[in-house]
Amino acid sequence: MTDTNAEQSGPALSALLQERRQFAPPPELAAAANAQPGIYEEAAADPLAWWERQAEHLQWERPWDQVLQWDLPYAKWFVGGKLNASVNCVDRHVTAGNGDRVAFHWIGEPENDTRTITYAELQRMVCQAANALVELGVKAGDRVAIYMPMVPEAVVAMLACARLGAPHSVIFGGFSAEALASRILDADARVVITADGGYRRGTASALKPSVDLALEQCPDVRAVLVVRRTGQDVLWREERDHWWHELVERQPDTHQAEAFDAEQPLYIMYTSGTTAKPKGILHTTGGYLVHTSATHRLVFDVKPETDVFWTAADIGWVTGHSYIVYGPLANGVTSVMYEGTPDAGGQDRWWRIVEQYKVTILYTAPTTIRTLMKWGEELPAAHDLSSLRLLGSVGEPINPEAWMWYRTNIGRDRCPIVDTWWQTETGGILISPLPGITATKPGAAMRPLPGISADVVDNEGASVANGEGGYLVITAPWPGMLRGIWGDPERYQDTYWSRFAGSYFAGDGAKRDDDGDLWLLGRVDDVMNVSGHRISTAEIEHALVGHPRVAEAAVVGASDPTTGQAVVAFVTVKGEIAGEDGEALVAELREHVATTISPIAKPRQILLTPDLPKTRSGKIMRRLLRDVAEHRDLGDVTTLLDSSVVQMIDDKMRTAPGGAGDE
Ligand code: WT7
Repeated sequence: MTDTNAEQSGPALSALLQERRQFAPPPELAAAANAQPGIYEEAAADPLAWWERQAEHLQWERPWDQVLQWDLPYAKWFVGGKLNASVNCVDRHVTAGNGDRVAFHWIGEPENDTRTITYAELQRMVCQAANALVELGVKAGDRVAIYMPMVPEAVVAMLACARLGAPHSVIFGGFSAEALASRILDADARVVITADGGYRRGTASALKPSVDLALEQCPDVRAVLVVRRTGQDVLWREERDHWWHELVERQPDTHQAEAFDAEQPLYIMYTSGTTAKPKGILHTTGGYLVHTSATHRLVFDVKPETDVFWTAADIGWVTGHSYIVYGPLANGVTSVMYEGTPDAGGQDRWWRIVEQYKVTILYTAPTTIRTLMKWGEELPAAHDLSSLRLLGSVGEPINPEAWMWYRTNIGRDRCPIVDTWWQTETGGILISPLPGITATKPGAAMRPLPGISADVVDNEGASVANGEGGYLVITAPWPGMLRGIWGDPERYQDTYWSRFAGSYFAGDGAKRDDDGDLWLLGRVDDVMNVSGHRISTAEIEHALVGHPRVAEAAVVGASDPTTGQAVVAFVTVKGEIAGEDGEALVAELREHVATTISPIAKPRQILLTPDLPKTRSGKIMRRLLRDVAEHRDLGDVTTLLDSSVVQMIDDKMRTAPGGAGDE
């Protein structure tokens, strides 16, 4: 198999594997957990019947005729069934008499800027927003782009689209105007919902100017709905722009929702692949809602009456879609939604939130855990975190050190940790322990969930033995699976269904330990994972060569103690550069990437090099460049790649097994 990102943490990993450290579920949790022993066997005996039972937790206007129609690689779940996602997430709970239950404790980044939104209020807000979208001409099937800060209106906008059967495409607020434009164009969205700005890292950032810039390239967008969040000045186009507080808030607060087919598109979420063009991952309504609500109920063991659930992620990513919006709301749970960064107002901000809102379940990413670790255990120790009963991790392999720190300092050795593996494409969690049943091990995602079939295979697709590395594949369809790549069926087939016949290729390396438990080992393709964000090497290379001074660029993900991986770029330039000039050019190129894609894609280092190492067939030898980036301290300030590094590349090229043609 090819190399994986997690090999750098090999020694620590194998030490733990040898030690076989594991934690049993706490007995008091086990007794009352939603998932009880026998569930794995029950689901394995008849997976479709098992998913059908999960579907019965939702409200269907018309029952399905068939659970699954599988025409590889296209799945239809709950065929013939009709439902409305927004009704399931909101109205249903109000009708059941739970209108007064809090849906969101919303916490703005500035201190004391908070809102409490009950299910009844959420229903009124969603109905008003749906009526406003109707006034703007939105019909079932129309795509709506959402480019928002973490404010309640972002959730309301998503649910209003869902209510009308109009697929939303949420674009993370950190993306540049250029990235926004390309996504609006690809989805052919005609309406954009945004805000003047938002609060992040202690300051008001602007969003509307990026929309204005993006829309210069998108003539078909006819309406922009703008939430006033910060009060900053915005440019206004009378014929196109509408204030949310004017258009939405004058609408009636009831709306008769229509039930849609289970396979009605619910949303498109763009994510990075191995080429420069992001993929529009398509999710539909019934299967996705069944998958997210079932996994949320079982993996997080939620109790709607008592839990306060906090997914510390942005709704601009799939984690926010599935476990801030659709999963928790379908289950009628109370969530915390926080706008800002973990250190806004002090590095103990999160622990103050947990203490004040009595958060019971916290779900975050390893990169954040490592940042919190750096800030010291004194900060969480100074707060009452006794409300917590369960912790979750997602986004990248969690290193055992961070896992243990999380367990000891946040979970106080009481709370189980669920390390949940999934992807934008999978819609919801596929591999995770189940609290109450499954033991946990620091760094292991443990087992495929009930109803999910996974395997670890070699190059030929044969299962590998325990202890051996291989490729993770999913061997049967699941309800939350992507239904395709927007506008690109060929790429859908090629990316996921062509590598191994009949199985879904996830792009991750994995192995099973001697107990048969699963450990995820990182990506096996040219996709990087920087602070839990999925970033394509090809996309950054494309941005770099778009700069007039760049001749060629190669980007690699080098391991980084905090962000997991960091972007390192090797660049050859057109023409000569003198020493001083080099530094200025590097700064300019880093900025260029930030403005073309997003600040999250900005290279940590750019090395200007006279040449790039290539195979005889002209392919850049990325693995070699990654070695260079990882094994030598090239300094923080980047300058012209010096001759010793060139020499090293050269040496490695000559000594690499199989010679230069090996890659
Ligand atoms: C990639 C998917 C799932 C929502 C956030 C990321 C990596 C995700 C884990 C985990 C090891 C993980 C994989 C996967 N990943 N969770 N628990 N252990 N790796 O979604 O942006 O689509 O990225 O994130 O490499 O392929 P995404």
